[in-house]
Amino acid sequence: MKTNAFFLGKGGVGKTTTSAAFALSLARSGKRVLIASLDPAHNLGDVLGTSLTDTPTQVEQGLFALEIDLNSWVERYLKESRDEMKAIYSYNLTLNLDSFFDIMKYSPGTEEYAMLWAIEHIRCELADAYDYVVYDTPPTALSLRFLAMPAISNMWIMELTKLREHILRKRSSITRINPESPVASSCVDKDDDKVYGKLGSIKRRLAGLASLFGKESYMAVVLNPDALSVSEGLRIKDELDRIHIPLSGLCLNKRGVSTTPWSLDKRLASSPLFEFEFLPVGLHNRDDLARLDTKGLVADFLATN
Ligand SMILES: Nc1ncnc2c1ncn2[C@@H]1O[C@H](COP(=O)(O)OP(=O)(O)OP(=O)(O)O)[C@@H](O)[C@H]1O
Ligand SMILES: [Mg+2]
Repeated sequence: MKTNAFFLGKGGVGKTTTSAAFALSLARSGKRVLIASLDPAHNLGDVLGTSLTDTPTQVEQGLFALEIDLNSWVERYLKESRDEMKAIYSYNLTLNLDSFFDIMKYSPGTEEYAMLWAIEHIRCELADAYDYVVYDTPPTALSLRFLAMPAISNMWIMELTKLREHILRKRSSITRINPESPVASSCVDKDDDKVYGKLGSIKRRLAGLASLFGKESYMAVVLNPDALSVSEGLRIKDELDRIHIPLSGLCLNKRGVSTTPWSLDKRLASSPLFEFEFLPVGLHNRDDLARLDTKGLVADFLATN
């Protein structure tokens, strides 16, 4: 059941505009909708004409919006990791956790994990209060990295789990052979081992996110009638294929903006295409947004429910 929708695409193609128009249209048809901006350079609030925060603000009847505060999620992710490591490795006083986490703040992957836990928070703590959740995403590079994260991390977790099982088996053998060994006082049972338990809980959280991206979400790629945004759309489709996330539909936004010839690659042609006219006067408020014809896209999305 797809109760979420993600709008992906090259910078400036109209992800914020089309996702906001889509969410508005659902809300004006009587649904209760939350739209969440994942783009660290937020402008969803400007588009909706309301200032937004990290928690849902009602924009109009049925429509709620938030802009995630990525920096605060990075801090939260590092703090939780630090507290957990302190609890698990409390015996290891030689490890200077604080300087380790200072470095981790800037290490690759931290932002993507923070983004994942922000999305998990929306899925687990907020989504139940709405019929649908719509995500306005950052430009392609960051989006593809966080979408791939559950699958990539899961491989890591599987290997670490095997390694931990190996360690526990070794400890158990040593304890049997020599009950006086210092190892005998450490944990040998999976059910009591904090590290093993933690790996299991990360695995379950990642599986929830993989299900959100791969099964519970309508993945829309936004394009413009130009070669660059189409080739980026193709790259997104290839990457989604690689991480087993189905592409649900294409939004051709700004139709008619230019007369330069362009064509849709035939590998994209198998996905349903929804067209949105270029509005030369611009989009200045929600009623302008409502002028974009989202009927076909909304019908296709609802048909997946
Ligand atoms: N159909 C349209 N007609 C007229 N102007 C449009 C249309 N769609 C988007 N725009 C304008 O194009 C600009 C970029 O749109 P938008 O901010 O939605 O793109 P984006 O993909 O979210 O960009 P970013 O990658 O920076 O987040 C905005 O000024 C917006 O008002
Ligand atoms: Mg945007």
